[in-house]
Amino acid sequence: MRETRLHPRELVLPMFVREGATQPQPIGSMPGVLQHDDASFRRALTDAAEAGIGGVMLFGVPTSKDARGSGADDPDGVLNAAARTAAAEVGDALVVQTDLCLDEFTDHGHCGVLDSRGAVDNDATLERYAAMALAQADAGAAVLGLSGMMDGQVEAVRTALDEAGHTTTALLAYSGKYASAFYGPFREAVDSSLQGDRRSYQLDPGNAREGLREAELDIAEGADVVMVKPAGSYLDVLAATAAVSPVPVWAYQVSGEYAMIEAAAAHGWIDRRRAVTESLTAIRRAGADAVLTYYATEVAGWLR
Ligand code: PBG
Repeated sequence: MRETRLHPRELVLPMFVREGATQPQPIGSMPGVLQHDDASFRRALTDAAEAGIGGVMLFGVPTSKDARGSGADDPDGVLNAAARTAAAEVGDALVVQTDLCLDEFTDHGHCGVLDSRGAVDNDATLERYAAMALAQADAGAAVLGLSGMMDGQVEAVRTALDEAGHTTTALLAYSGKYASAFYGPFREAVDSSLQGDRRSYQLDPGNAREGLREAELDIAEGADVVMVKPAGSYLDVLAATAAVSPVPVWAYQVSGEYAMIEAAAAHGWIDRRRAVTESLTAIRRAGADAVLTYYATEVAGWLR
């Protein structure tokens, strides 16, 4: 009688790789999630491949940050190096995906470069994204996760990739990406201290239609997949997007959603395994074709 079920291939594991680390670092607000060093990264990739999940989404934690996020398009920067490692180690088994955004690499923590008034400069940021995209595709990423919410980012990146011959690199557009408190633990995960907030480029939590409009624009610009994020508090936006989207729709169960389940479970207030399974089933039921979740490898193990 069951309409919806979970399958390992529909789960994508976000992973954090820390530049220069000689051992993995725990992330206090995300118990069980690590900033990987090279050795633990390779082990986790192998575990994910053996568990049969669909892919990994890589985030870099660079040792130095600057105003333009120079590490982001450096071929030897932490994220591009991690993509090369993942493509070589597990590229046959997992879809290797990279976060295409500047916030991990900028000292001010914004997703783009700033203008003279300190506001995010949309069009100057598009040039940085194009350079990042080429570095990530060269490194072997198969899907680029456009999470920066700049206007025109899908078209800018698609054009740059096509001109360089990377015609088969797919674009995952974070379309319905809301300015959310649920990204809180992620800041610790990538050692980012944001100056100000992201409300000028991420969506207002009160706006459902705007999420749909962003998805339409991204699809028109060439997005291969659109995403709604966070997932649990935006199931209506997810369902509405899935009802009209001609391309696959994914959802991201973000750091704060993970942290809430972990904290309540650690207190014995909820049954951890049931809560994890139920939250992911609900996201799939609402219309997500695949889910980015920090639980991906663990849940795939349960499903076996
Ligand atoms: C941007 C990005 C963020 C997340 C994924 N990509 C942070 C943000 O936009 O503020 C958050 C993911 C999470 O909270 O788990 N690089």
